[in-house]
Formats: sequence, structure tokens, C-alpha cells
Amino acid sequence: MTAQNTTTVDVTVNGSEHELEVEPRTLLVHALREELGYTGPKVGCESTLCGACTVRLDGDVVKSCTVLAVQADGAEIQTVEGLGDDDELHPIQRSFQEEHGLQCGYCTPGMLLSTASFLEENPDPTREEIREALEGNICRCTGYHNIVNAVEEAADKLATEEAR
Ligand code: FES
Ligand code: FES
Repeated sequence: MTAQNTTTVDVTVNGSEHELEVEPRTLLVHALREELGYTGPKVGCESTLCGACTVRLDGDVVKSCTVLAVQADGAEIQTVEGLGDDDELHPIQRSFQEEHGLQCGYCTPGMLLSTASFLEENPDPTREEIREALEGNICRCTGYHNIVNAVEEAADKLATEEAR
């Protein structure tokens, strides 16, 4: 049997270094979930539409269903597992919990990471700006109202907690 055509990729995910062997066609979302066990990024549309697979790649928000794993070689990746820690949820996670910004939760990892990136850029957004910022993340459950409330609450929490 011939050896599979694989490539070695080095990535740092949520601060942990990993080396993995992937085929050139392997999508980042599949590498994260199936090779490395980070199941926060979800597989939805696999065509850049829904945002369920959103992760951060060297700080940028990307849809990991349209990034090849080999393109992430040498990159720092953040998945939702890296947002809070075992002892305490991140302020954005607490805000989504308190404001009921989720129902089934399928969109939530992507929503949280898009929110984290957005609030770094715009720490005091309007509701309209929040809606625009999250338009690449589709939620089939909530109607978005509570998600916008959650992002507003997260902005407040981050401002308050950072001021301490
Ligand atoms: S699964 Fe990637 S955008 Fe939908
Ligand atoms: S909470 Fe179900 S898709 Fe958003």
C-alpha cells in the first residue's frame, strides 16, 4: 500500500502546540475537530455562509470550513475552548448565558469568537453595529434580539472589569 500524501502542519491552539499530519485537502475545521479534538467549531454549511465553524487565526476571525489546514501552518488558533478557563467563563460567555443569547447552542461558539474580535475593535458599539458585525454568523433559534442584548452586556462587562 502506498503512503498517503500528507503534510506536517504545526499549529498552536489555545496556547497548546500541536503537530499533525494532514492531507492537502483537509479543511481546518476537520483537523481541529477530528485530529485534535477541539469540537467547539461546528460544521454547518461548509460554504462560508453560517459561521458555525468560526475560529480566530492569528487574531483574525475566519470560517474554518474554508481554510485548509495546511494554510494554518505556524499559526495561532483560538477556538471557543480557549475563551474562558476551567474555573471561570469569559465575560462574553457569561453575558450570553445571562441574556439568553443561545438556545440550541450550535451557532454559539462562532458567535462568541466573532463577538470577542468585534469588541476588541469596537468596545462600545451601537445595536446596529452589533447586528452588522455578526451578520456572518447565522442563528436559526434566537431571532438575534437576545444575542444583541448579550453583546451589549458583554461590552459593559469588559469595560467594567478592565477598569478594575
Ligand atoms: S460551516 Fe463554515 S461557514 Fe458554515
Ligand atoms: S442558538 Fe441555535 S442556532 Fe443559534
